[in-house]
Amino acid sequence: MKIDAETRLVGVIGNPISHSLSPVMHNAAFDALALNYIYMAFQVEKDDLEEAVKGIRALGLAGINVTIPHKTCVISFLDELSPEAEMIGAVNTIFNRNGKLIGYNTDGYGFEMALQEQAGICLKDKNVFIIGAGGAAHAIAGQSVLSGASSVTLTNRTFEKAKSLMEFLNRSSCRCNQNAGKIIPWDKDAWRSILPHSDIIVNTTSIGMKGQGNLALDIPWDSIKKDAVFFDAVYTPMETLFLKEAKRLGYKVVSGLYMLIYQGARAFELWTGKRPPIEVMEKAVLTYFARKGEQDAEKTRE
Ligand code: ATR
Repeated sequence: MKIDAETRLVGVIGNPISHSLSPVMHNAAFDALALNYIYMAFQVEKDDLEEAVKGIRALGLAGINVTIPHKTCVISFLDELSPEAEMIGAVNTIFNRNGKLIGYNTDGYGFEMALQEQAGICLKDKNVFIIGAGGAAHAIAGQSVLSGASSVTLTNRTFEKAKSLMEFLNRSSCRCNQNAGKIIPWDKDAWRSILPHSDIIVNTTSIGMKGQGNLALDIPWDSIKKDAVFFDAVYTPMETLFLKEAKRLGYKVVSGLYMLIYQGARAFELWTGKRPPIEVMEKAVLTYFARKGEQDAEKTRE
């Protein structure tokens, strides 16, 4: 990698940030297209967020990704929002257009493209069932409404959080003349009533994430239609128990890893104006995972 006075800096701000896959993915893409860019990760405390954003302008960074916990708070420091960022109520990508900081949300796009490219299904006219109501659910539910899903049904352990997401969707969906959807209880029987009509079934909870023990979603598998597609926002492990079981039963499954890759690809395109090398980005992430798996295995042997 050659770094000189013309190298453009991009990166990601969050806290914690050391686990981020984005530097590996973006630097591989810059390298593949011989673009004079470098991607770095910055741990930024909440109280320093405004200064960090001002730094983008002051130092002339091409842009930055924003991750947990800053995706919502960062909005007040930006000059403009894209329609998706407004709809989702969170920003994960900032583009510095000649000193003007524009907030985008490419997470929803990442979700939509992952479904399209990995399972050949689009959101338009589909019934989407979303388990969970946190940050990932906001992007996924918002994008589903924006892309013309027939219905969005939410379920969450804490009902109040599902209610506040639904209220948010209702407000935003009025703007794009879509129906928002409904909430059903966190209970297998309630799920059984909605699953026979669900085309896309999405887990956005952290259940299934590495380090969470043997916790598993209690899915009434016998009530799911034959051509349903399963998506899990969790990508560590790359194939969760939820996806493994769906795959074993013959359903198409999509890992959250592809949402990560496509949200990154869109950010790359915004900053560089170039078509992102998807295969390179995918390979970089998969290689990183494979190496990490080996290192973890080494550790357990030690
Ligand atoms: P993210 O930004 O990744 O979506 P988050 O905003 O912290 O993360 O949201 C986590 C989601 O996982 C929430 O829907 C949470 O449910 P609650 O609102 O009830 O907390 C869900 N979640 C986490 N652990 C869970 C568990 N053990 N059982 C059920 N839901 C769980």
